[in-house]
Amino acid sequence: MRTPPSWLVIEPCTDADLGVIKTGKEAQVNLVQRTGADGDTCQFARKRYLPREVKSKGELEALGVQRASTFVNDVQYREGRQFRKSRDRRAIERMSTYGKRLLQDRWTGHEYEIMTRLWNAGLNVPFPIAYSDDVFDLEYIGDDTQAAPQLQSARLSRLELENAFDQLVAGLRLLVAEGLAHGDLSAYNLLWWEGQLVFIDFPQAVDIAENLAGLDFVHRDVVNVCTWFQRKGLEIDAEEVFADLLGFL
Ligand SMILES: Nc1ncnc2c1ncn2[C@@H]1O[C@H](COP(=O)(O)OP(=O)(O)OP(=O)(O)O)[C@@H](O)[C@H]1O
Ligand SMILES: [Mg+2]
Repeated sequence: MRTPPSWLVIEPCTDADLGVIKTGKEAQVNLVQRTGADGDTCQFARKRYLPREVKSKGELEALGVQRASTFVNDVQYREGRQFRKSRDRRAIERMSTYGKRLLQDRWTGHEYEIMTRLWNAGLNVPFPIAYSDDVFDLEYIGDDTQAAPQLQSARLSRLELENAFDQLVAGLRLLVAEGLAHGDLSAYNLLWWEGQLVFIDFPQAVDIAENLAGLDFVHRDVVNVCTWFQRKGLEIDAEEVFADLLGFL
């Protein structure tokens, strides 16, 4: 177990919202300042999951469901991961009321749990602080003037680009060795800060061993992100990267 970072102010405390870091289609991330009883402060990022396209609003609201349109995909992502009882599996496949409720319950803490696992395994992810309902608090990557840019919009020299790629491969090896596929890896879900590549955005991560499509997700992630590096001028082979990863399973 790695030790939680020393900057973290533990309860009792008050939180103040310092504003939006980024609003996207799936989540809004804010910067929050926490002040402890003794006056110590720390800042962190607060990710709030947004509701997506709502199909039958009344029914879903009655269920307290936040992420309506993700249910269908969830079945693929979650296959075999947590729903061992065949009764539960069938309920999810049929999207019955009971099935939807099961998915909602499992969804909220998933990103926190995955990132805790990965942080402990040594992957460069923001420190996961806590979650409740549809809110996830995590280490803020950035400084007083700006949040860390996504790799997509960071301006990297050739040397930094090569360095970022090396960090990507090392990170992917760790992920695979931990038995996990990110499931949505791209230059938007990697941050670049002070020469470090930081992996973010894990709500859809899946267990490779338990999910039939697990290796497909790894392959898709590798192709996605390698294509980005290729467009930036690196001569790399996504299939070679993927084949190398299989050795870390
Ligand atoms: N810990 C963090 N520190 C700094 N910025 C962050 C942090 N976490 C997320 N962000 C910023 O917020 C953006 C959205 O976060 P994230 O990728 O986790 O959510 P998302 O569900 O993909 O939302 P979106 O619909 O915007 O893609 C990130 O791309 C990044 O720019
Ligand atoms: Mg994202």
